[in-house]
Amino acid sequence: AQAPHGKSLKVLLAGPRGFCAGVDRAIRVVEEAIRRYGAPVYVRHEIVHNRTVVEALEAQGAIFVEELDEVPPDGHVVFSAHGVPKTVPAEAERRNLLYLDATCPLVSKVHREAERHFAGGGPESRHILMIGHAGHPEVVGTMGQLPVGAVTLINDAEEARTVQPADPSRLAFITQTTLSVDDTAEIVDILRERFPLIEGPKREDICYATTNRQEAVKAIAPECDLVIVIGSPNSSNSQRLREVAERSGAPRALLVQRLDALDWSVLDGVNTLGITAGASAPEALVQEMVAEMAKRYTLCIDERTVKEESVIFRLPAPLG
Ligand code: F3S
Repeated sequence: AQAPHGKSLKVLLAGPRGFCAGVDRAIRVVEEAIRRYGAPVYVRHEIVHNRTVVEALEAQGAIFVEELDEVPPDGHVVFSAHGVPKTVPAEAERRNLLYLDATCPLVSKVHREAERHFAGGGPESRHILMIGHAGHPEVVGTMGQLPVGAVTLINDAEEARTVQPADPSRLAFITQTTLSVDDTAEIVDILRERFPLIEGPKREDICYATTNRQEAVKAIAPECDLVIVIGSPNSSNSQRLREVAERSGAPRALLVQRLDALDWSVLDGVNTLGITAGASAPEALVQEMVAEMAKRYTLCIDERTVKEESVIFRLPAPLG
């Protein structure tokens, strides 16, 4: 198409981008719960870290709450994709709430790993080092699978260098699923070097979606003058995509929630723009932004897919 002013812009679309199977499933859980049980269905925490998704579900009859005490006695409540500490389903049961767990199966897998290492706190028990970001709901949920003190959080390489576990021969590590692949490899190397007997996954617990999105943005970043990551500021995997883009050769990378948050002046002087989206960002936000760009520039769009994805998760038992 011919833009009125004729300015041209090359757009490299990173693939895969956007929704992962865990986010897709979490959204379907809420939609299916509303369909089956009728509105409202309560959702504890943002189901996934994206305002657009949250608003769309609110429009269908979801009510988002911070804690279970905001759910009325006969309410249905869904737990978010990030997972919850064990105290949350326990509290739901105590209050006789009907709950559905939208925890991503790849997060649940890490929960089970943690429990296996802890081994009930018996003689086989290992102290767990969790590589992750303090305060992120996934970290809260994973650490909350075990008693307080069973898991020590490792935020960065420095903490990996200085942590002093009581028994270095009985250690294990687990990780958050949405970390930077490169940073985590460095941290795991430090731990393995310091504690040769540490047990853990072969590499880390970063999920396929995080890995693939980082690979995809790495592949386009060196050609780009700017990379826009569509995603929310509280989305861990989106933040990591922004960092990976800059470290892989893009002079600048920005996290933009959606079209109305885009400051168009960032495109001044940009010849090649990279676009990707975090695992919780709907593809519609990408298409909306590209469509708006097409009104201002003559676009040359190039889809760069480094990997095809076909992962689909089934709904949890009561809905499946
Ligand atoms: Fe699950 Fe990874 Fe998405 S852990 S929710 S598939 S980003």
